[in-house]
Amino acid sequence: MCGIAGYIGYKQAVPILLEALKKLEYRGYDSAGIAVVHNGALHVRKTQGRLSLLEKRLETERLEGEGGGGALQGSTGIGHTRWATHGAPSDRNSHPHCAGKIAVVHNGIIENYRELKGWLEARGAAFQSDTDTEVAAHLINYYYDYYEEVPAAHPDRLAGAVMAAMKRLNGSYALGVVAEDAPDRIVAARKDSPLIVGLGEGEQFLASDVPALLSRTREVYFLEEGEVAALYHNRVALFTGDGEPVTRRSCRIDWDAAAAEKDGYPHFMLKEIHEQPRALADTLGPGLRFVPDTSLSAIGEWDIDVGDVPLERWKDAPRIVIAACGTAWHAALAAKYAFEGFARVPVEADIASEYRYRDPIFDPRDLFIAISQSGETADTLAAARLAKARGASVLAITNTRGSTLAREADFVLHTRAGPEIAVASTKAFTTQLMAVYLAALKLGYARGALQPSDFRRYVAALRDIPEKARRVIRGNGESGGADRINRIKQYADRYFNKTKVFFMGRQCDYATALESALKLKEICYTHSEAFAAGELKHGPIALLDAETLVVTIATQRRLFDKVASNVQEAAARGAANLVITWEGAGERAFEKIATAVFPIPQTEDRLSPLLSVIPGQMFAYYCAVARGNDPDKPRNLAKSVTVE
Ligand code: AGP
Repeated sequence: MCGIAGYIGYKQAVPILLEALKKLEYRGYDSAGIAVVHNGALHVRKTQGRLSLLEKRLETERLEGEGGGGALQGSTGIGHTRWATHGAPSDRNSHPHCAGKIAVVHNGIIENYRELKGWLEARGAAFQSDTDTEVAAHLINYYYDYYEEVPAAHPDRLAGAVMAAMKRLNGSYALGVVAEDAPDRIVAARKDSPLIVGLGEGEQFLASDVPALLSRTREVYFLEEGEVAALYHNRVALFTGDGEPVTRRSCRIDWDAAAAEKDGYPHFMLKEIHEQPRALADTLGPGLRFVPDTSLSAIGEWDIDVGDVPLERWKDAPRIVIAACGTAWHAALAAKYAFEGFARVPVEADIASEYRYRDPIFDPRDLFIAISQSGETADTLAAARLAKARGASVLAITNTRGSTLAREADFVLHTRAGPEIAVASTKAFTTQLMAVYLAALKLGYARGALQPSDFRRYVAALRDIPEKARRVIRGNGESGGADRINRIKQYADRYFNKTKVFFMGRQCDYATALESALKLKEICYTHSEAFAAGELKHGPIALLDAETLVVTIATQRRLFDKVASNVQEAAARGAANLVITWEGAGERAFEKIATAVFPIPQTEDRLSPLLSVIPGQMFAYYCAVARGNDPDKPRNLAKSVTVE
């Protein structure tokens, strides 16, 4: 959605806000803007388009001495990068929005904005934009102006005005607010949209997400639902929405600041693809434990450690329900195959936005799992809240410590992908899969569905995955690596202009197919679809012609013959066929019938999505580059979807 930044301290706010907004641009890039408080006035600059346009404008002002001369001054300010919901991307719809003495940046949707707008207009407010946000600015300004009307007003007038406005705002919001006559404070508030306060020495920060703070501070408060924060130069005060002081300890973030930089790669997406071996190892590491002399063997074994998650509690669960969105839903689908295969328990993998509205039948003994990279996706949060309200224990699989999902879930399995900046998810997906396989194997063993020898075999296979992922990306040696990348680039150069690309696979390969197709849609804007390979003949085959590229994921050895028939069916309709399959056996099975085969190192068939998705990620990346698209910032998308 949108990204919010704020700074109050002893330095110039503008460069700090721009630096933070750069880190938040993945959340939206329709427009960008800042407001600084200086000499009793608000100085606002906002521009449609990417942040670089705002930077250029500020630089021109600095050189030409516009806007009062030289660089924009002020050490208190707020900033915003927008993903448009209400009102087209334009200068006037850009944030910050001002009303009277107040400037506001907002992430979320004010659902009752029409009604509030009417109320405010009847009291003389003149609106300048088509956004829902502007009502928040006018409402806060109204209560700031008529503060004596506010019942039980808070001693901090700006915070009190925000609290009064919050009582009337429906929907979701993270707000950053400044007032022209209060340069010594920023007020922030949240409901259903993430907001983080960063703590410094004589300076404080505000941001929608951790990467924007990493170069400045590691000490943060994650604002809780309905909370208000007042940021002053030397301290931060937290309040409930009713003005009651809140005391709690700050959290320390252990992410590396360098992890949020491109580190020499042309794009974050390519960097994040290449980070997968490390991210998989980091997620696997804490999940494995060597236990000398166990029930598994007399000499000791690698066992799975899921930390504080009491998986045994669900040993007899009649069902597992998993809800998620987008890529995380594809991980949920792969999880269905994993839990059913390893633990022999029925699994429903549901799209969170559907689950939340279908009045689901829920048995409190069921295990409910929510998967989310950000931990802030509105639909996934709503699904988890619904399950909890119906008596379920919620297990979250998330990459973001301190996220709303992590805080609201009963138990959390943390993936350790590090910050994922590119909008198209890569390392978050494979680390979600890793967490899922660890949990499924552990539960399978606890339920007695997996024999010790099988458990051992799968754990050994997982331990080899990071190195095999490295080989998928880089090949066996330096030149092998170049060869492998060159092959993917060649496929991309040959096929990037295809208007129809279909992905197919059976069982967990279907989950991989869905995820690979999504990557191509997101960053190449290519019409790509995924099918369960057996479904091809039930309709989609009518779409196949010589213009179609079909990418088949074939890692389920027992189904090679079936999948080979599907590849033949596509070839017979003139489609080009690319097959992603195991080195050796897979190559032999498909090389004669496919246009090209992309081999990946062998592992257990059931674990294949961990490796088989990587060629699809790379293919989409190089196709996007060949098309001249920016893979990190695809059109119309935002990284974290915190609105419905
Ligand atoms: C994936 O490439 C997309 N950016 C999107 O589908 C994403 O996975 C989805 O919005 C869910 O996000 P979450 O994992 O943060 O909940």
